[in-house]
Amino acid sequence: MSTRIPGFYNLSPNKRLEHLAKHANLSKEETEIIKGGKGFSVADADRMIENVIGYMPIPLGIAVNFKVNGKDIFVPMATEEPSVVAAASNAAKYTYNTGGFTTSYSGSIMRGQIQLTNVNDPYGALARIYENKEKILAMCNEQDPTLVSLGGGAKDLEVFVIDGLTQKMVVVHLLVDSQDAMGANAINTMAEAVAPVIEEIAHGKAILRILSNLADKRIIRARGVFENPFQDNEEAMENFLSAYELALIDPYRAATHNKGIMNGISAVVLATGNDTRAVEAGAHAYASMTNHYQSLTHWERGENNSLVGTIELPLAVGLIGGATKSHPIATLATKIMQVETAEELAGVIASVGLAQNFAALKALAGEGVQKGHMKLHARNLAIMAGAKENQLNEVVKCVTQKGSYRFDEIKEIVDTMNKME
Ligand code: MEV
Repeated sequence: MSTRIPGFYNLSPNKRLEHLAKHANLSKEETEIIKGGKGFSVADADRMIENVIGYMPIPLGIAVNFKVNGKDIFVPMATEEPSVVAAASNAAKYTYNTGGFTTSYSGSIMRGQIQLTNVNDPYGALARIYENKEKILAMCNEQDPTLVSLGGGAKDLEVFVIDGLTQKMVVVHLLVDSQDAMGANAINTMAEAVAPVIEEIAHGKAILRILSNLADKRIIRARGVFENPFQDNEEAMENFLSAYELALIDPYRAATHNKGIMNGISAVVLATGNDTRAVEAGAHAYASMTNHYQSLTHWERGENNSLVGTIELPLAVGLIGGATKSHPIATLATKIMQVETAEELAGVIASVGLAQNFAALKALAGEGVQKGHMKLHARNLAIMAGAKENQLNEVVKCVTQKGSYRFDEIKEIVDTMNKME
């Protein structure tokens, strides 16, 4: 089914879900789960974390207009922030006729670190660890025969001597192919299991044994050609590119620029039950890889006044293990996306990040974000001002017509309505 559904935005949540149910073959029970009617209970929450008292619902929206590697994808996004889903959908529209987004993946290699202190001969230890590489990798792989049988497992290692404040430390990196899992559990188990052997080889003391969230061997790249987004307006194009340029140079701007990208990325990561903090830590660390924190995206002029956007970042996301499988809505989110591998999932997520960045820069370099944002936020403001459910549409209409989103004015409208009732 094409993700180009004009007017999707104006449908009711039920009607939108009907579209998706048809597209992804969702059963009645599955649509009920998505609506929140059933499927996730306090008992489920209690199994996931500690000291549970309930759970906190977050809106789940669908970004439309996405085509990734030739496949139309409805993208589930869990976020509390207005504008994000609309912006991603709107941005993706510009790429639909140019072929959508295309992606490439470096593979699912994650790093696990084993830190060794009290090593008398750090460089000798480094050499001895490499001499014992096969033995160490075999021991890692004994920990996870399932991963190995799927073609994954510990593939290689790297050893570094690091100048600490008080001593030279030896740090071993296990390079583990985690396939379609995020990989944290497998890697941490391996790191803990081989640490005593590595201690013996290095004649040192193992302290940290944990994966690194700087997943620089799990890089996804996405590219999109945005078709004549400024309708041949050269000044608007220049403004967009100047706005991007600042994010390459100035870390204050780059932080906000990348935050906007993560608005999209984290929303899909969360909707699919993946670890938002792991992805965010990895993205920001990667943005600093040149020792200068900068934009995760690049923008260039394309043919016929199009813009070519690219994004490159580590994405440690999986489709098996963790909440991806244990949370019923996360499972359904991946069913809606119809992605079958971690690579496919990462490709969609990176494309959403790129789309999000396009939308933010276009708005910022144009009329600003506040007009559109406040329009979408008007509903929240009306609720805060005490509007009842049956008054909401009227209040939003009134406020939008006025074009002013001041809270005191919205409150006045609500109060007047209440007086008239
Ligand atoms: C707001 O959540 C995100 C933006 O600030 C991103 C940006 O400035 O690029 C609009």
